[in-house]
Amino acid sequence: MSQNQKITDVLMVGATGSIGQFAVRAAQQHGLRPRALVRDVRRAEQRLPDVELVQGDLEDPASLRRAVGGADAIVLTHGSGADSRPDARAHVDYGGVRNILGALDGARPRVALMTSVYSTRSDIPGNSPWKRRSERLLRASGLPYTIVRPGWFDHAGPTQRRLVLEQGGTADGGIARDQIAETLVRSLLTVTALGKTFELIAAEGVEPSDWVELLGALKPDESGSVDGVLDPADLPVEGEPRALRDDLDAVRLLRGASG
Ligand SMILES: NC(=O)c1ccc[n+]([C@@H]2O[C@H](COP(=O)([O-])OP(=O)(O)OC[C@H]3O[C@@H](n4cnc5c(N)ncnc54)[C@H](OP(=O)(O)O)[C@@H]3O)[C@@H](O)[C@H]2O)c1
Repeated sequence: MSQNQKITDVLMVGATGSIGQFAVRAAQQHGLRPRALVRDVRRAEQRLPDVELVQGDLEDPASLRRAVGGADAIVLTHGSGADSRPDARAHVDYGGVRNILGALDGARPRVALMTSVYSTRSDIPGNSPWKRRSERLLRASGLPYTIVRPGWFDHAGPTQRRLVLEQGGTADGGIARDQIAETLVRSLLTVTALGKTFELIAAEGVEPSDWVELLGALKPDESGSVDGVLDPADLPVEGEPRALRDDLDAVRLLRGASG
């Protein structure tokens, strides 16, 4: 997709979730046509009335081909928070991104990926690198992307609506769910968001009015790097398990396949 190609059909991954539901609404408000990837259609109908649903499971690659077909853009807000398996983050947070990219079959949609303000914080005990690894797949894919790392959901008061975008992984703070969703959808529609990764929190003040300027002030990720532009160099790809390096090679091949 070129930078100026029109976006209409948007696949929403994680659409039934606490952020995904807001993201679907934000997409509708911006005149887009959201299509929700859901595991359980009957359950999703309750949460997302009047939204096109497509059945699929992020852990079942074959089920994703139909879902991604024809999408001009994809918004990923999925997460393994409700999944008690010890390896759920690997399978869902990371594997979900890998499997969506693998299902694209040469298509080049615009992608907005939500991860977390703590994506790169290896200094925090128990923090997992799976979201950071999922970000790396998206950068390696060569697709036009924006990666949004939100702070703590709803740990912001009603008068804290000024968005603070930071890079380097040291931001900390809260943000309302609807503002995360709005930022993800705006990033699809704002050319200055392309190729950027940023942490997102809110501070006292009013909502942004100029998204081009807000997102334009950020540094782009370096071309060819799998990390965000100011990310710490504490997770070298060379030291990653073989299977993860193979995943990166596989998404790079997709880049070649799509020309
Ligand atoms: N809590 C915070 O303050 C905070 C801050 C930053 C980032 N985050 C991250 O944000 C992420 C999402 O948060 P949330 O509150 O929106 O999560 P959530 O309400 O638990 O929603 C998760 C979504 O992912 C979907 N999903 C899970 N496994 C799937 C699979 N195998 N196939 C297809 N869809 C699948 C769920 O679908 P079903 O309806 O089928 O279950 C649901 O739509 C989490 O990963 C969390 O780590 C959280």
